[in-house]
Amino acid sequence: MCGIVGYIGEKQALKILIDGLKKLEYRGYDSAGVAVYNGAGIDIKKTKGRLKDLEEKLEGQEVLGTIGIGHTRWATHGAPSDQNAHPHPNSNQTITIVHNGIIENYLEIKEELINKGYKFSSETDTEVIVHLIDSYYNNDPVDAVIKAMDKLEGSYALGVLFKDHPDQLIAARKDSPLVVGLGKGENFIASDIPAILQYTRDVYLLEDEEIVILTKDDVKILNKEKEEINREIFKVTWDVAAAEKGGYEHFMIKEIFEQPKVVKDTLMPRLPENQNKVVLDNIKLSKKELENINKIYIIGCGTAYYAGLIGKYLLERIARIPVVAEVASEFRYRDPVLDDKTLMIVLSQSGETADTLAALRLAKKAGSRVLGIVNVVGSSIAREADDVLYTWAGPEIAVASTKAYSAQLACMYLLTTHIALEMGKITEDRFKELREELYKLPEKVDVVLKQSEKIKKLAEDYINSKNVFCVGRGLDYMVSMEGSLKLKEVAYVHSEPYAAGELKHGPIALIEDVSLVIGILTQESLYEKTISNLKEIKARGGKVLAITLEGNTEIEKTADEVIYIPETPWIFTSLLANIPQQLFAYYMATALGHDVDKPRNLAKSVTVE
Ligand code: F6R
Repeated sequence: MCGIVGYIGEKQALKILIDGLKKLEYRGYDSAGVAVYNGAGIDIKKTKGRLKDLEEKLEGQEVLGTIGIGHTRWATHGAPSDQNAHPHPNSNQTITIVHNGIIENYLEIKEELINKGYKFSSETDTEVIVHLIDSYYNNDPVDAVIKAMDKLEGSYALGVLFKDHPDQLIAARKDSPLVVGLGKGENFIASDIPAILQYTRDVYLLEDEEIVILTKDDVKILNKEKEEINREIFKVTWDVAAAEKGGYEHFMIKEIFEQPKVVKDTLMPRLPENQNKVVLDNIKLSKKELENINKIYIIGCGTAYYAGLIGKYLLERIARIPVVAEVASEFRYRDPVLDDKTLMIVLSQSGETADTLAALRLAKKAGSRVLGIVNVVGSSIAREADDVLYTWAGPEIAVASTKAYSAQLACMYLLTTHIALEMGKITEDRFKELREELYKLPEKVDVVLKQSEKIKKLAEDYINSKNVFCVGRGLDYMVSMEGSLKLKEVAYVHSEPYAAGELKHGPIALIEDVSLVIGILTQESLYEKTISNLKEIKARGGKVLAITLEGNTEIEKTADEVIYIPETPWIFTSLLANIPQQLFAYYMATALGHDVDKPRNLAKSVTVE
């Protein structure tokens, strides 16, 4: 939530800050602002609205200076407004900050500061930080920031400018992401790597409770005791182009079309032809270690959780291990049974989702082993998990997750086949058959994508649908959850996922002639039952769009529309069946004129609880 950037060097800061914020706008886009030291004081420009509104506001204005900070906001405390937009200054504008995170004890601190005579001009939690730093400031920026950190509860990534020290940019983090980019004669801070990637590939990944002093020629990382920390430089290996639209109209559609490569990159290195096993990077999950595990939790939020549900289903049915899958925001508050025989698998694209990270920490505290399935290399979850299985999806910029979900499913397929083989639940021959099928998946994804024009037409034909139900049985039900989420997120169409057999227990009352039901039928043993449920919809005037395997032409007698996906064993159909849902939601959203890459009220990285 919220993106921050900072620059110190010899170039004009404004353009670098704005360019950086453009890459971070996916983190929030309620308001935007910059602060630049102009030689006389700190010049702050900010506005409600998107970055383009800030750019408009800046037109014709001179904001000159070679050190500055910038912010794009996803409102938590206080509505989106000019006043609540960051950067926030202290009363005499000698200190200015940008903040990503949430200060939990801000009301208490605010009261203390008001009693000391501080005046507040916004409703944000952030403003307490700048006044708090001011209250401790005695010409030593680092000292004041550390004292403020000691008092703050909650999460923060901070960029701080001091008018009295215009040759320094101070940054700090706790539970919110922050990286430092290392240049020549210039240095950067940012919430995420794409914001600085056009300037440098050398990055420091900051840890919690670290403070950084950046000058144009130097970066010092300190702990709260002011001891200097030696950090290895992290080299970014992926390309700038991976974080650009590359000719597509939106990131979302670009990322959908990247899926054949993503699935290939995630699966292939782990399935070498010359070894009859899954090579799970360096993760130790041998028979002996698996026998020591008495339960598995799979934890995530949103799309990542839905991928986890598929993992649960497969691990139970194929590897015969009991698994509980749960959303992180519930799991962490119910005092779950965790011990040193528990394996927790956490799924997260960003690796920064606050609830997922908190669930991970809860498990680690109880001595459980945590395996992270994460996309962002070096993210908090990747660093704190005992083991990491990366989803090699590349940067996912569109707010709605698409390619990361497919990569998460690919990881679940790998884990399931690995555990099943280790535990003797499948034979080596069966493993080889499954591996052959996995080899074919990327190509099959491509086959589904080739139907994009047909799906676009369908999305346009059904643009006036109200109450879209996404239904299926077994694994198809889990996939329908993801389809329904995409429709809500980007098309703003009210949609609900339902186990197909449950419709008649209530929701069928909502079916009328403007209703659309997307039925997924890829599980052969459940076809007939799902078809009967879809007939019940048709009988009540609803329209049915079916997604099924090639050859299942029987469904044409019931459904109004059918999208076929290539034949695949039931275990691996979910990845393919979801792709038409992604395309349908995308095309419906664009036909409705929505900003699909930045849907209203959403943000990519949910670092609030
Ligand atoms: C949906 C979506 C969200 C995320 C969720 C978890 O399209 O993007 O539901 O899946 O916020 O995010 P990560 O995977 O970063 O932990």
